[in-house]
Amino acid sequence: MLSDALRSEATRVESTIADGPIIHGGVTPQEIRAHLSQYDFSQPRTLEEVCTDVEGMLQKWQVHVTHPRYFGLFNPSVTFASVVADTLAAMYNPQLATWRTSPAAIEIEKHTLAWLAGKFGLPADTSATFTTGGAEANQSAVIVALTKAFPEYGDRGLRSLAATPTIYLSGEAHHSFSKIAHMTGLGRESLRPVATDSNLKLDLNHLARRVAEDRKTGFAPLMVVGTGGTTGAGVIDPLPDLASFCKAENLWFHVDAAWGGAAAISPKLRHHLAGIELADSITCDAHKWFSVPMGAGMFFCRHTDAVGEAFRVETSYMPPKLGTVPDPYTSSIQWSRRFIGLKLFLALAEQGESGYAGVIEHQTRMGEVLREALRQAGWRIVNATPFPLINFTRDGLDTTAFLSILHQRQIAWMSEVRLAGGAPVLRACVTSFRTTEPEIQWVVSEMSKVFEMSKVFHETEARRGSKEDLQTPAVR
Ligand SMILES: Cc1ncc(COP(=O)(O)O)c(C=O)c1O
Repeated sequence: MLSDALRSEATRVESTIADGPIIHGGVTPQEIRAHLSQYDFSQPRTLEEVCTDVEGMLQKWQVHVTHPRYFGLFNPSVTFASVVADTLAAMYNPQLATWRTSPAAIEIEKHTLAWLAGKFGLPADTSATFTTGGAEANQSAVIVALTKAFPEYGDRGLRSLAATPTIYLSGEAHHSFSKIAHMTGLGRESLRPVATDSNLKLDLNHLARRVAEDRKTGFAPLMVVGTGGTTGAGVIDPLPDLASFCKAENLWFHVDAAWGGAAAISPKLRHHLAGIELADSITCDAHKWFSVPMGAGMFFCRHTDAVGEAFRVETSYMPPKLGTVPDPYTSSIQWSRRFIGLKLFLALAEQGESGYAGVIEHQTRMGEVLREALRQAGWRIVNATPFPLINFTRDGLDTTAFLSILHQRQIAWMSEVRLAGGAPVLRACVTSFRTTEPEIQWVVSEMSKVFEMSKVFHETEARRGSKEDLQTPAVR
């Protein structure tokens, strides 16, 4: 059986990951390219030989995001069921462009998405598709919003519009919107940054002022983006207020819940996303807090007709449509499409809803443990979120020196971020369901030592001193 062979490999990887390194030791492009130069493809090799070599490269030369002490951007540890699913999808290779060719796969996806749409509180006839990730889902939202607001946009383009559409979002929103504004032809200047309050939430008064000014000066306000868990700080914008504002102003309300959206399946956490049920569209990634391999995003939209209009196309070379069932290639950005949704379906079916919610609640609890341990150790927490993401700093911290030692000593992977354009602070997010409390306590105790070292490092660097003693891995 497929899963037996995979299970032994996955068990081997899983049993070694926690004791292995988190971070590669500063490999250079030249080193990797020199290794790859043995592959001139002139002679065949055995699959076993090449797989062993590739696995060796992956083990040696990457940041191990599935390590329990990886606290970086939301790249999760992955459930075994979702790895099996990805393999099955590759083996059967169903083409999800049309229902006629892949009825089983398409119905599995629809079934899974309908379940999640229900958790968000969206209507039963909500349109939903799996995407490559959150960026594609956000792009889908902008395209569908433009199509609904400006029926002439599809055929005659933005240049036919009397006024330039504008999109409102806080400076903490995801920067995929910058690329989307470029790609759709709106242009980056059509993004209207809205100020944030002291908790980094989008400021409603400033939003109202910006929209009013734009209307007065001849722009056509189109969309407000509320983020349900910002990338930098895990902040949830005031979703119910944004929904009311959008309704009153006739604006599209998009909720980007790329990573925080998974909280909707937890009875303990879902109230934090209140207001999401009023969204016109939602982005949620399965490849973040749902712990499945990349790439698996999801796009939900209550305006099914507008989705159909945005992505409609007719051609004789595609298999004819079956009855009234829409073909995915006419209701999404992608044409040929992988069976993305199987990894969420299989993992959900295996763990059950409560098992899955339990994992999300465990990570949230680990976030609380980390937050409290940092506070006790003298760090200053600078963000407020119910999600497991902590921004922190302390007087005299040089984030670059600190992170460099933390990484060199293989203590943990963390990153830095500037919130609201301020000074850099540290950012730690519990992205792995493998993270445990003893591990967190050990990391925090080591961080105090690293902080002291980073001050020395800073001074010795200034005097061009030796870094040797700082490169020894900390022993657990
Ligand atoms: C809030 C938010 N939106 C969108 C994205 C983009 O998602 P993806 O990387 O899956 O395209 C991210 C990625 O981190 C995110 O945090």
